[in-house]
Amino acid sequence: MGIIASHVGKEFGEPSVRVLTDISLEIKDGEFVSLAGRSGAGKSTLLYILSSLDNATEGQIEISGKDITKMPDEELYRFRNQQMGFVFQFHYLIAELTAIQNVLMPARKYNEEIKRQARAEMLLDQFGLLNKKDRYPRQLSGGEQQRLAIARSLIMEPKYLFADEPTGALDTVNAETVMNILRDCSVKDGMTVLMVTHDPDFAAMAPRQIRLADGEIVFDNQNPAALKPEVKKT
Ligand SMILES: Nc1ncnc2c1ncn2[C@@H]1O[C@H](COP(=O)(O)OP(=O)(O)O)[C@@H](O)[C@H]1O
Ligand SMILES: [Mg+2]
Repeated sequence: MGIIASHVGKEFGEPSVRVLTDISLEIKDGEFVSLAGRSGAGKSTLLYILSSLDNATEGQIEISGKDITKMPDEELYRFRNQQMGFVFQFHYLIAELTAIQNVLMPARKYNEEIKRQARAEMLLDQFGLLNKKDRYPRQLSGGEQQRLAIARSLIMEPKYLFADEPTGALDTVNAETVMNILRDCSVKDGMTVLMVTHDPDFAAMAPRQIRLADGEIVFDNQNPAALKPEVKKT
């Protein structure tokens, strides 16, 4: 069922500034999608709207067949916690918690820390962090912190993973490791992954590639009809 956006638009502020215009797209279950474009193109705004963290000014968004623009807050909150994982450029790890405690944070809300313990260790192992599970974030490198943040986003076994510039703060080697992890989430685990990046090389690693310019889709390799000239404002 995936994610279906219909005629989504976004304006910010007073006086209002238009940031997204008439975005329609369909992301199928299990797809790995990159959302690329220059700084200011509207990538993060679109990611937040598609993932229910921000409201659209107009348009509709369906996830797993449910219209999230009409969902009551409490239901949306539960849906988000159970079905969505989030990874950001800055990882917002909790300094006072150890690596494994950070991974288990989302499980804590549901009293599932014990139930999810084995999965937390499996994820840490998969990301080469098991021997550092009792370290605090400040005792980890930037790449290790980002892998830890991804492990945390996966602890509840989300169906959808949203990542905003997950490689933005990393060197090439760590960035490639993170990209491979995201690809495996889609290819091996069947997760739907939507990743924002301004890096064309990383964008090209995703089978589905969408590009935004000035708040509009100008390229979508699965939907040639979306092709538009990239230079609009002169
Ligand atoms: N909360 C906000 N209030 C006003 N303008 C915003 C806000 N968030 C983003 N913008 C503007 O929307 C545009 C797109 O921003 P963003 O989605 O962050 O772009 P990208 O992630 O592609 O760099 C930019 O011009 C930015 O200044
Ligand atoms: Mg951004």
